[in-house]
Amino acid sequence: MSAHGDPIPMTARRAGPLKGTARVPGDKSISHRALILGALSVGETRITGLLEGQDVLDTARAMRAFGAELTHLGPGEWVIHGVGVGGFAEPEDVIDCGNSGTGVRLIMGAMATSPISATFTGDASLRKRPMARVTDPLALFGAAAHGRAGGRLPMTIVGAAQPVPVRYGVPVPSAQVKSAVLLAGLNAPGQTVVIEREATRDHTERMLAGFGAELGVEDTDEGRVITLTGQPELAPQTIAVPRDPSSAAFPVAAALIVEGSEVLVPGIGLNPTRAGLFTTLREMGADLVYENEREEGGEPVADLRARFSPAMTGIEVPPARAPSMIDEYPILAVVAAFAEGPTVMRGVKELRVKESDRIAAMAAGLAACGAGVEEGEDWMIVHGRGPGGLPGGASCASHLDHRIAMAFLCAGFAAQRPVTVDDAGPIATSFPDFEPLMERLGAHLARANR
Ligand code: S3P
Repeated sequence: MSAHGDPIPMTARRAGPLKGTARVPGDKSISHRALILGALSVGETRITGLLEGQDVLDTARAMRAFGAELTHLGPGEWVIHGVGVGGFAEPEDVIDCGNSGTGVRLIMGAMATSPISATFTGDASLRKRPMARVTDPLALFGAAAHGRAGGRLPMTIVGAAQPVPVRYGVPVPSAQVKSAVLLAGLNAPGQTVVIEREATRDHTERMLAGFGAELGVEDTDEGRVITLTGQPELAPQTIAVPRDPSSAAFPVAAALIVEGSEVLVPGIGLNPTRAGLFTTLREMGADLVYENEREEGGEPVADLRARFSPAMTGIEVPPARAPSMIDEYPILAVVAAFAEGPTVMRGVKELRVKESDRIAAMAAGLAACGAGVEEGEDWMIVHGRGPGGLPGGASCASHLDHRIAMAFLCAGFAAQRPVTVDDAGPIATSFPDFEPLMERLGAHLARANR
């Protein structure tokens, strides 16, 4: 089932080379944060380039429910009148975060240190995902969580009336957990300290500093130590959201595996905590060039040029790189199927608790397409069949997971026979224009089995 309606089966088949410019949407992580911090500042925040995918729209709706005023001026352009740190009102109804783990976890953090309650739910995928990783540290601030067995949604968070600051070592590499704790720390007096052993995406830290919070980051033997001084007055900002590297990954990967292709993907955020896939692809021998490298809105940005790369070879992806490409393993697994030899992905246990169990979903679909795949609890190996070597001719389950759906459709652009996904509906959560954008490049997508 698609997130908001009937399933949309979609088939991708081999077509001519992919050519042209792919303008992918705004960064999903940054878009969520821009809305939430805009809602927590006093005055008018202006955003351009906001991703208008369902995940972010659900966060926008939630911010309205907590009392912020949001105006949609035009494509990607929003104005927010925030309520200030500690100013959230109690929502009148259940907050439905749809498919978005980032949305629900960050919003839980943002409201947990205010004297209000809120009940959260989501779609069938989100209701299966673990929330204790967020509610455990929120309890240290004094918030209470009442959810289903195993810490699942629907769940009510009773915010702390008298929050205390927290020192918390994040036990799993998760930017969502780190961010939830920092957002909760905003309304706690004194200093909240978050320690992460492995660096994860740092958009929350960058944006908090941009909004004027007092925030220090130190690399120590314990890991990255982030210290936030609570109860700041956040000053409204003008935010230009860079284009999403996690969405760019799909046209880039498609260009690398479809014979004769050359695609330019302009304006992509290349924050080092996000760019691991592109490093990996280049190590595999991909013809992928960064052009016009620059800085925009405090984030490094470049135009990516990707060309068909028939000589890619499998590699062992360093496990330490996993947090910087955690959402890109599904599409990497597809590229790996078109490289020579094995690509080994280790230290990727977190993939099992994403929108779907991404190791299981990729292993099943790639095997159905004729690739050799091995998997373990925290690893996966794809045995590549070389350029043009994937048989395809299979139907793959997307498990309500946008990135699984897009990954298999990209496989279909280069496989010998068409590849179908049972439901392309979830793609709208992060990349609503995926279908027309890929078709403009010359890809062949059809909405029913043909
Ligand atoms: C995100 C963090 C990652 C990532 C997700 C977006 C964020 O999740 O998978 O798509 O915006 O903070 P985890 O923090 O659970 O690794």
